[in-house]
Order: sequence, then C-alpha cells, then structure tokens
Amino acid sequence: VQGGCLSIVILGASGDLAKKKTFPAVFNLFRQGFLPEHQLQFFGYARSRLSDQELRDRLRGYLKAGGTDPSKDAATVINHFLSLVTYTSGAYDTEEGFIKLNEIISFHEVAKGGKEGPTRRLFYLALPPSVYPVVCKLIRQHCMNQRGWTRVVVEKPFGKDLASAEALSNQLGELFTEDQLYRIDHYLGKEIVQNLLVMRFANRIFVPIWNRDNIANIQIVFKEDFGTEGRGGYFDEYGIVRDIIQNHLLQVLCLVAMEKPVTLTPEHIRDEKVKVLKAIESIKDKDVVLGQYDTYKDDPTVAPNSTTPTFATVVLRINNERWDGVPFILKAGKALDSRKAEIRVQFKDTPGDIFKCKKQGRNELVMRLQPSEAMYMKVTVKQPGLEMSATQSELDLSYHQRYQDIVIPEAYERLILDTIRGDQQHFVRRDELKVAWQIFTPLLHRIEEGKLPLINYKYGSRGPLEADELTEREGYVRTSGYIWIPSSLK
Ligand code: BG6
Repeated sequence: VQGGCLSIVILGASGDLAKKKTFPAVFNLFRQGFLPEHQLQFFGYARSRLSDQELRDRLRGYLKAGGTDPSKDAATVINHFLSLVTYTSGAYDTEEGFIKLNEIISFHEVAKGGKEGPTRRLFYLALPPSVYPVVCKLIRQHCMNQRGWTRVVVEKPFGKDLASAEALSNQLGELFTEDQLYRIDHYLGKEIVQNLLVMRFANRIFVPIWNRDNIANIQIVFKEDFGTEGRGGYFDEYGIVRDIIQNHLLQVLCLVAMEKPVTLTPEHIRDEKVKVLKAIESIKDKDVVLGQYDTYKDDPTVAPNSTTPTFATVVLRINNERWDGVPFILKAGKALDSRKAEIRVQFKDTPGDIFKCKKQGRNELVMRLQPSEAMYMKVTVKQPGLEMSATQSELDLSYHQRYQDIVIPEAYERLILDTIRGDQQHFVRRDELKVAWQIFTPLLHRIEEGKLPLINYKYGSRGPLEADELTEREGYVRTSGYIWIPSSLK
C-alpha cells in the first residue's frame, strides 16, 4: 500500500449527503486511527460561500466520538479532525475553482510531506449526477495528482436507463480508467452483505444445498417506515425501482446467487456477479406489483399528478443450472409498516413428513441487514415437554448478543477505507452496471408509459395486498404463529 500525504476532497461539501454520511464516515476512520494523522487533510468544495469555520460548525453536530481511545476526550478528537478541514467555494462548471482547489491541495501536500515522495488524492463526489461529467473533466484537467494515485468516488443514480447510463459511463471512461473510478453502492458495505460470501462458501452445510433442488424461493426485502419527506424532488424523478431495486437489492441478489469466485480478488468476484446478472431473464408484467402510498402527492416537492411508484415487488428469474425455477422476489417500499432489510431463503418441504410438521412451516434462513444485524435459521424441533410434537424455533446468531464488544462499522466508513486501500471488490464495475440497466430498462420504460397498474396503499401498511398475493403465488409459505424475537430484546 502506497503511503504519503492523503488528501480527501469532498465535492458538494455543504450538501446533505456530505454532512450526514461522508464527513461522519471519514471522521470515524480518523478517530479509529485508520488515517495518517500527520499527513492528512480534508478539503470541502461547493458553491456556497462559506468560511472554513462555517463549514466546521455545520459539520460538528454530525460527528459522534463514542467508543474512542479513552485518553482523548471526545471534543478534542472532534476539534482535531475539524482543524484538518478546509473549505473552497467555487462553481462546478468553471475552471477557476478547480485551479484554486488544486493549489490548496498542493500547498498542504508540500507543507505536510515536503516536495518529494508520493501523495494520494481521493475525490468524493457528493453531488447530483448531472454535474459528474463536468466536475470529472475539471478534476482531470486541473487536480490530478502528479505524485501518486487519484481516485474518484461517485454515487448513484448513474443515469436513468441503459442509454443515459452508458452515455455517462462513456463520458467518465474518457477521463478516468476503471481503476480510478469507484462507483459506490453502500449496500455492499453492510456487515451482513459482506458476510454473504463467507457464509455461502466457507460452510460445508450450505454449499451442497444452495440450489434449485433445495431452495423454494428467495426474497430480498427493503422496507422503510417513512415516506420521501424532504427528498420528494429527487425521488419523484427516479422512483423505487431505480432508488433501491436496480442497485441495492440487485447487488445483494448477485452475492446470494453467483457462483463461487476463483479467488477473492475484486476482478474474480465481479466476473461472477456479471455472469449471474447476464443469466437473469427479461421481466414480465405479471411478475411486477407497483404501489404508491396515499399521501405521497401531499409532499409539495412531488408532482401533483405523479405516477412514480414508491413500492414495488419484482420477481426475477435466473436461467442457469443452479437457479432454474427458483423465484427471486425483490421487494422495496417507502411508508410501510416497519423499517428493515433482509434476505429470506426459504427451503422446500421435507419429503416423507412423519411429524406432520408441514403446518409448522418450512426451514428458512433469514439474514437481517438492519436494524440489529442477525442471521437466524428457522428449524423444526421437538416441542420441549412430555408430548412428542414438532414446533418451529430458530438457531439464532444475533450480532448484538454474540459480538457485544464490537461496533459494527457504517457502510460508508468501510467503503471509503477500501477506496484509500485501492480495493474495488465492493464497488460496481462498469459492465456490471450496464447489465443491471439492461435488466430493468424495458420495465422502467413500460412503467413510464403507464402500462402497469399503480396500486394505492395506506401510509404505514404492508403495501398493496397484490404484492403478498404475488409472493404467495411464487410459492412462499408464510408461517402463522411464528415470531422471531431478536436476542437483544429477549
Ligand atoms: C439510498 C436511497 O440509496 O438508500 C434512499 O436513495 C434510502 O431512498 C437509503 O432511504 C436506504 O439506505 P439504508 O442504509 O438506510 O438502508
């Protein structure tokens, strides 16, 4: 790993993403000692006219110094971090700002590390994607590191459909090589998502059963118990399929469904992801249920006649030897009855059932991404006591109980550290993105042409009934009476 002065440049520094996610993530890396304290500088860049101090004051409230080295008190750590933050204001589409930014970065590089030796520059674009091309061009022209690597982190949305995404990829591809570009999908930074490869490929018990012979269906579910409050403007243009399903849930699907990579190198992993994506069949209308919650259009930032879905269930089918006939049910919704994200692998019934346990329900492996990370396996056991009867229980790995002293890192924290280390394993490669858009673009166009029904559902409900019906039709068997209580709550 190359050393030298590290400059982390956050463009869009005065915006929401920077304040709530990027700066706090970088701060957490800093306070845990992952960044080179003496050869480090943070640069905020945005259009707003702010002084260094004004930016620091804005950020302060979002920085939490819990669980750090007890010898330093929280305020000292936060102040030290903020003292390393400087701000430059400038436009996103003219040269002056970027020339100035480059001068400031170079000044700090020399001040902290001298005129010789390697330096590192990380640009994080916490910006609307409409300005990615021009900002990248100006970085390329004026801010490239002459003494070491330059890496650029970009966030979705990467386009609105295949054509626009490819246009963006071409524009960025002319400016940076693939190993300089880090397309972030923060779901890939979540602990349980990162555990998928280990779970699947390091456990003899799962290896032989992870296929169509044993698995009946797989659900990947994202639920939020709040609406688009405040983000209606962005959301209304994109909708739930682009906001959650085409990226976050599809990325999770890749890791659940892909074949074993040759090694753990990023290219081998991403090769397998692309392969499984290519085996996904085109989506049929009968495999989709769309919904919009009843008060969505009350949001003043949403178009009064909006037909944007805030809920969708989409069944994907993978046409390969492992998964032929196993539905992958992707469900995402805003303003539902709870907030959670989970993967649910439901196994087929046990043949020759002598315990009459069919009514008890099936084996199910549930991996809960959030809240309260957990993995539990629903199994049928003997009901304790004198009678010989079967009941459903679980083998439970609740992280809060099992790993009490470990603070699970935020997704962004992990991914920014990967960027500094040059590890692209958890970032989306250009060809992966292209196939993801190929899968969803025809459906998205049909939705926009109003060809699919949009079902109204109540804020705070389970979403449209039709979605549960679709899931049931696809063979998911709901167990009545079984409720998993996370160990942390027992
Ligand atoms: C973002 C979406 O990518 O992910 C948001 O744009 C969504 O709409 C968010 O709320 C969910 O992320 P998390 O980590 O809270 O599940």
